[in-house]
Amino acid sequence: MLQDKIQQYTEEIERFAPQSAQELEAFRLKFLVAKGIVRDLFEEFKTVSADQKRALGKTLNEFKQSVEQKYKLFQAQFASGTQSSKKEIGDLTLPGEGFAVGSRHPLSLVRKEIVEIFKKLGFTVAEGPEIEDDWHNFSALNFPPEHPARDMQDTFFIKKQAGNDIALRTHTSSVQVRMMENGTPPFRSIMPGRVYRNEAISARAHCFFHQVEGLYVDKGVSFADLKQTLYHFVQELFGEDTRVRFRPSYFPFTEPSAEMDISCTICKGKGCTLCKHTGWVEILGCGMVDPNVLENCGVDSAKYTGFAFGMGIERITNLKYEIKDLRLFSENDVRFLSQFETELI
Ligand code: PHE
Repeated sequence: MLQDKIQQYTEEIERFAPQSAQELEAFRLKFLVAKGIVRDLFEEFKTVSADQKRALGKTLNEFKQSVEQKYKLFQAQFASGTQSSKKEIGDLTLPGEGFAVGSRHPLSLVRKEIVEIFKKLGFTVAEGPEIEDDWHNFSALNFPPEHPARDMQDTFFIKKQAGNDIALRTHTSSVQVRMMENGTPPFRSIMPGRVYRNEAISARAHCFFHQVEGLYVDKGVSFADLKQTLYHFVQELFGEDTRVRFRPSYFPFTEPSAEMDISCTICKGKGCTLCKHTGWVEILGCGMVDPNVLENCGVDSAKYTGFAFGMGIERITNLKYEIKDLRLFSENDVRFLSQFETELI
């Protein structure tokens, strides 16, 4: 009788608990293939009388489902089992997979180097806001009202307000003003930071760049101190055979003012395209702090003198690493940046 057979197989299936993929495969061959038991039972079903079909049909369908479910359940279990054991086995003799390490930005490397040299000379590090008012960026630094640097051409203005416009700082000298206003001499600090100028972006100019400025104010500070400090700095950064020269220059906030050149680091002074065949490259501006600036910042210019200097970090980095295009610094191209991987400090 069909009903008895179904009953008998149902019990067998309920008991079935395969221990291996082979046992499960045997189960499939017995029940689920074209000549398997399930198909046989359906064949037999065709022969039962019409009045029995109703009840038996339902039982037979449920039986078929339970066979399939049982098979699927163990199939999933063996499949995931074989996968995870494959992973565990793996080839343990293969070399491990390396992982990529980040690198410091060349400008950060050079800034750090500059800061370390001045730290050894007793300079502290000071910082200030990138959004400045006219007073700290220009007026306190002795810029006359009609000075071209205040012009829209050079400065990114944020807000025009009577007598004290708000703008992005054009140099880090603004930090010197803040320092003198808020403290009492002596001051001996360097100020690294980002500055902004309204220039078209090209290989040689950018609308933002980085500076390190320095300020030393005390009783009896002289131009000789300025020269020796900067000479020492250059020798530390570029090597002992690097020569320096000072050329007279003009800045509203220093008097006298100078620009400092170093002997070309590429051709060692013989003449090349970098130094435009002069043997010298300019790296910074400097001078004795103008007495007007000291007074503007509440420092007694009869008692104190000081020197200040300012350099672009990009320029120093160009010289150290022979980078010819300023835009590389802000493009975040890993092919460029990863070249500095070994310099991780
Ligand atoms: N602030 C000047 C600049 O941005 C650099 C400088 C600083 C010159 C201090 C002299 C003294 O170009």
